[in-house]
This record gives sequence, C-alpha cells and structure tokens, in this order.
Amino acid sequence: MARVSADSLSELRNRRSEKWRSFPEDVLPLPVAEMDFPIAKPIRDVLIDMVKRSDTGYSVLDPELPRAFANFAKRNWNWTVNQDQFYLATDVGVAGIEVLRLWTKPGDKVVVNTPVYLNFFNWIKEANCEVVDAPLKHLGDSWALDLAGLEDAFAAGAKAYILCHPHNPVGHVFTLDELEKIAELAKKYNVLVISDEIHAPLIFKETKFVPYLNVSDAARETGVCITSASKAWNLASLKCAHIVADNSVINDRLALLPVLVSERASLFGVWAGIAAYNQGEPWLKAVLKNIDENRHYLAKLLKKHLPKAKYTVPNGTYLAWIDLSAYGQDEVTQLLLDKGRVALGNGALFGGVGKDFVRLNMATSKEIIKEAVIRMASVLED
Ligand SMILES: Cc1ncc(COP(=O)(O)O)c(C=O)c1O
Repeated sequence: MARVSADSLSELRNRRSEKWRSFPEDVLPLPVAEMDFPIAKPIRDVLIDMVKRSDTGYSVLDPELPRAFANFAKRNWNWTVNQDQFYLATDVGVAGIEVLRLWTKPGDKVVVNTPVYLNFFNWIKEANCEVVDAPLKHLGDSWALDLAGLEDAFAAGAKAYILCHPHNPVGHVFTLDELEKIAELAKKYNVLVISDEIHAPLIFKETKFVPYLNVSDAARETGVCITSASKAWNLASLKCAHIVADNSVINDRLALLPVLVSERASLFGVWAGIAAYNQGEPWLKAVLKNIDENRHYLAKLLKKHLPKAKYTVPNGTYLAWIDLSAYGQDEVTQLLLDKGRVALGNGALFGGVGKDFVRLNMATSKEIIKEAVIRMASVLED
C-alpha cells in the first residue's frame, strides 16, 4: 500500500480553511476536524477536470452517487442501501436540521448523548427544538450508551434522537447490541433516530461498524442516516451530503424535504463523493494507517510528557479525547492557547463531562502531534 504523508507545516500554513486561518501564525491548530493530508488523486483529478471544462453549474443528483455509496457500503459494511430512498443535502448539518424540521414542531425534545459533536446543539436550536441529554457512560477506559437514561429521555416525550455513530468526540463505535436496543426503544416510544454516520469510513481494524439502517426492521422503521464523503476524504468545502432511508413511511416524509435542499449541494461535492466512494479506498486505507499509528503514538507521548492526562485510544474517528482534569486548570484550553500556542477543541463545548477534556485532531503528521504534546506539557508540567 502506497503511503500518504501529511503536508508539512509550511505547506499547511498556506491553506485558507478554518483550521489554518483562525489562529495567529505561531499557534499550532488542532481543534477543527479537517485533515492535513493531500486529497486523494481520483478526487483531485475529477475536480481539476470539471474546472477545466467549466462544469461549474448547479448540482443535480446523478444516480451514480447513490450507486457508488451503495457499492462502498456493501463492500465495507455488507449493507444493501436502498438507492431509491436517497436525498442530497448541502452538508450533514443541513441534512440534520431539515430532517428535524420534518419530524418535529417548535419546542419538541431531541435527545443527544453528551459529550457530543458540539454542532448537534446548534442544529437542534436552529430547528427550534429543545436538547435533552442522555449522557454516555464513562467506564474508565471505554464509553457506552446508558440505555436506561436513553429510555427515560424517550419516555419523557422526545420526538427525535441524534445518534453520533461513530461517536465524535469519544471515538466509540456503537455495538450491534447497543444499536438493536436503540431501535427497539425508538419503536416503542415512536422516536426518529437520526444516525449521523459521517465518521463511519474512519474505523480501525479491531472494530466493526454496523450502519443503523442495517441493524433490524425496527431500525429501518425508525431511522434516517445522514452522511457524506466529506469527513473521511476531507472535502468539507465541497458541500455535499446525503440522507438515506429504507422504509416507505419514512421515505414518504423525506419526499417532503424542500426541493432546494438538494440543489443547495454543490456539483463538485457530488462528483468528488462519487470519486471517493468508487476510487478512494486505497487512499483511505493509507490515511487510516497513519491515523492508526498516530492514535497509539499519542498514547506514548502523553504517558511520557503529560503523565496525568487520561486518554482512551479511540476505535474510530481521527479525534483524540483527552482528560486533563488532573492538572486542575479551569480554563485549560484557553491556557494552552495563550501560554502554549497550541489550539485544541474545548471539551466544555461538547456538553456534560466534556469540561474536563480537550479534543485533539490526529489526522496530521507525527511531528505535529509531538510538537502539540510538548507545547501542552510546557504549560501543564512546568
Ligand atoms: C458527527 C459530525 N457530524 C457532522 C459534521 C459536519 O458535517 P458537515 O460539514 O457536512 O455539516 C461533523 C464534523 O466534524 C461531525 O463530526
């Protein structure tokens, strides 16, 4: 397998994305979930070709996208995607908000499992709904769903549940057993499960990813999958996501999505997604090899330089979730930014126990990860 190396810091400093333009030059930025690898060649080729031919108009859902996604899902997860129940959206955030709007009315309750991807709170707010938290259980060196807590939240009248599968930031990949129980509860209490599977291709060898819609009839009756190639192939600026279902009742509701939700995706995103699903696996495998090494390398670095930090090596995603509470600093993210010139995700924004944690992006080089840990240690250990 050909190796893919992350760009050097001087190349990365020339990027214009949020990660590289939100902080002063002397700050090492690791909070935003963007990758520091060069994009996959088949994706680069298709984009260059489109620009050369001025193929820069409005998007339309080419049937090749559901086909490519279905083939990818079959190869990787043995999931037979229903290609007739497939909708485009601008991004996964828009997909989540538009699905919420279809299933809820203002003031309705929507469940999440904190600590969780911070924009879930914004999506729920944008859909005029109320967040209900069913926190994950922290079992020391792993995380799990608190099924009793989830049932309480459903029984209290929730209309929808946003499942972060795999889970950002803790890196937990929900097990078949957990997913089956979620589906049973969702059916019992008539709750829509919005399964955000954007991180699904970013899974390591020891873990099996089961798409929610591939779990059971109860899952198909209660679920909508929202996803995109944008996270695993680093295409966030290309603006294209998809909403997938496998149930006629759910599909009848999705057919009511505003027509422009689809057109507001980008044509570049549609064709980059097709290239990713059809031809992007060798690149993805090579990148996953780097991230796999990085997640263990980070454990070693933390042990050596920040021995009081607690970190569980994640099973999926490229995000490290590090408990720094033993260092006793209230505003640890700000302190690390101000004094260490290293920017990390502020765990407090992920809700619940998140305030004890920082999130570090491992989709980069070992040099950058090492430098980040050394900067953190220079603040916390000295
Ligand atoms: C779980 C999850 N969902 C959605 C997104 C964002 O997706 P998009 O940029 O397509 O809205 C992210 C970004 O990191 C994420 O972690």
